[in-house]
Amino acid sequence: MVDQELHRGLEDIAVAETRLSTIDGEAGELIIGGYPVEELAKNALYEESVFLLFNDRLPTKSELESFRTELAGYRKISEEIKQVLRQAARENADAMDALRMGVAAANLGFDSTESTDHAKRLVSVIPTIVTTYWRYRSGKEPVEPRDDLGHTANYLYMLSGEEPDPAAVRGLETYLNTVVDHGLNASTFVARSIASSDSDLVSAVTGAVGSLKGPLHGGAPGPVLEMLLVAHESDDPEGYVQEKLDAGERLMGFGHRVYRTRDPRAEVLSRAAERLYSGSGDRAFFGFVEEFEETAVSRLSDHKPDRKLETNVEFYTAVLLYGVGIPQELFTTTFAVSRVGGWVAHCLEQAADNKIIRPVSIYVGDHNRSWTPAENR
Ligand code: ACO
Repeated sequence: MVDQELHRGLEDIAVAETRLSTIDGEAGELIIGGYPVEELAKNALYEESVFLLFNDRLPTKSELESFRTELAGYRKISEEIKQVLRQAARENADAMDALRMGVAAANLGFDSTESTDHAKRLVSVIPTIVTTYWRYRSGKEPVEPRDDLGHTANYLYMLSGEEPDPAAVRGLETYLNTVVDHGLNASTFVARSIASSDSDLVSAVTGAVGSLKGPLHGGAPGPVLEMLLVAHESDDPEGYVQEKLDAGERLMGFGHRVYRTRDPRAEVLSRAAERLYSGSGDRAFFGFVEEFEETAVSRLSDHKPDRKLETNVEFYTAVLLYGVGIPQELFTTTFAVSRVGGWVAHCLEQAADNKIIRPVSIYVGDHNRSWTPAENR
């Protein structure tokens, strides 16, 4: 019997069991692999977060070493993939389009049949794809990864070709741990759906990259930064926010499908950003950001009294990544650098207890039309 009740956007519909992460939208809590996000984000290396998702436990010291070595072995990309990225850069392709093309080609020259190898390969290779594209886009040659650097430090190193600053590495590591998984969000659902047809991980991650790109999902931090820079320049956050809302526009970085509180990831990332900006960054800019957030939340509450619109993860993502020195064009691809760990873990979990994901739609079209030949229409 088909459920004919319409659930727009599949809101509140459960389609899978998971041990990977859970969200309490009313309490503002996020648990990843059993750990509160606050705990994981500040303590883990990104490699530990991914091991946790793959194995449902943290690695021992020696397991961590082997895992890091294994990931390092998968980090390089073939000349064929470089060609794809060089062409994308020449045509000024959007960074997420370049990433989608690079990921789609990630099977080239990779011949393992084990899906767990593909999972590790995808986690490892995305930073190389992003940075190779960006180096070409900036008129430079790509920088080869270094075996003595971890996953996060390598990302920064391959971007700039310079020794990464430890404070920037820690800031970025906190970000990568914070957003590695987040329940059945849009891109993870896409990845799981593709995996559920017994397709391959490269296809699943390619689809997920496409989903993440949209501004209602992972595409928000670039516009958030633009908004903050313009508002900072005007030095009138109140006027800026009011003007946007009066024009019927959405304030990027606020509102969430699940949270009715401040997104717990916003708290983690704001603390990390505060540390970074208080060290070598522009502390005054961070002060402005806090003032903007307070104004925006208060105006949004007047604007939509029946709907709690609080700060979401993307607001402080923009601030933190800007402080780390990630170019704005790479904010969403940097989200993918992290979230790929969640995507592939969900695909492996789906495969372990699979049922093809196949919801229904409610037909609202006509019935019993009679055919008219083309020359009579
Ligand atoms: N600014 C102003 N108004 C807003 C905002 C906002 N940021 N967010 C929601 N609203 C309003 C909507 O206009 C809508 O009003 P209406 O009922 O009069 O039409 C109401 O609040 C409910 O909004 P929905 O879009 O129905 O809520 P939904 O749960 O579907 O969407 C979403 C959540 C997409 C995140 C939304 O809040 C939004 O567009 N935010 C801005 C974009 C953004 O920050 N995206 C990143 C999200 S975090 C992530 O995906 C990783």
